[in-house]
Amino acid sequence: MQENLTIEEIDEVVAAIRSRVEIAPRVGLILGSGLSHFAESVENAASIPFSDLPHWPVSTVKGHSGRLVLGQLEGQDVFVMQGRIHFYEGYTMQQVTLPVRVMQRMGVEILVVTNAAGGIADAHQPGDVMLITDHINFPGLIGKSPMHGPNLDEFGPRFPDMTQAYDPELLDLARKIANENNVPFHEGVYVGLSGPSFETPAELRFLKMIGGDSVGMSTVTEVSVARHGGMRVLGLSGISNKAHTDLSFVATHEDVLEAGKQIVPKMETIIRGVLRTI
Ligand code: HPA
Repeated sequence: MQENLTIEEIDEVVAAIRSRVEIAPRVGLILGSGLSHFAESVENAASIPFSDLPHWPVSTVKGHSGRLVLGQLEGQDVFVMQGRIHFYEGYTMQQVTLPVRVMQRMGVEILVVTNAAGGIADAHQPGDVMLITDHINFPGLIGKSPMHGPNLDEFGPRFPDMTQAYDPELLDLARKIANENNVPFHEGVYVGLSGPSFETPAELRFLKMIGGDSVGMSTVTEVSVARHGGMRVLGLSGISNKAHTDLSFVATHEDVLEAGKQIVPKMETIIRGVLRTI
């Protein structure tokens, strides 16, 4: 499988989108498990199935419907990924992050990412929401980075800075909106793993020890590419299950989808408020 996507290939995707819809989106949203129906409230929506786009990987996971939705949400022109692409499905890191590159070529400045995650912090309960203040990018740390290979100078530098991966001003705004609307939330560090297996008890003890608060199988790769291209990022974890070190506990994909139902209204309130304000 070809590892690197060229700027020409990325621009072919942009051209395919522009041939179907005239829009200059400012905000990109990548909606994870559970939240994908949020894309249905986009106004003046143009939908493009992932399978219609050149070079575009097609999501295979239940609960991820797999299309692009372009239109308006809370007065903003948005580019919504209804369903995301995961590394564990077998795609390359470059394929996983192609949507972010396409957003960047279309002028998107702000990326909002959501995910379903296991709660590592003691206080986290299924159905809770966590604002992501920072992350630990495990695939990146072991050499699985979409920026491995020739640097795409059109987007950003060879050694991108990650000190403020999650934008402090967007975080402040999200806190303010959550408080004003009585939406309870946690804050913390998201640990991104490759999956698809859930963590062993020993791995979870380790992730807790190194400062992880929630854990999942997405987001960090997309966020690193977003930051490489200079986007500002807001990240939200929906806690779908407690990431237990208890041997009798088994998390299922159904648990993940169920807790998503409690998470959705909280996340929607925060995201809509942020879109209205920025
Ligand atoms: N671990 C990893 N990924 C997840 C989890 C988890 O417990 N829950 C939802 N995604």
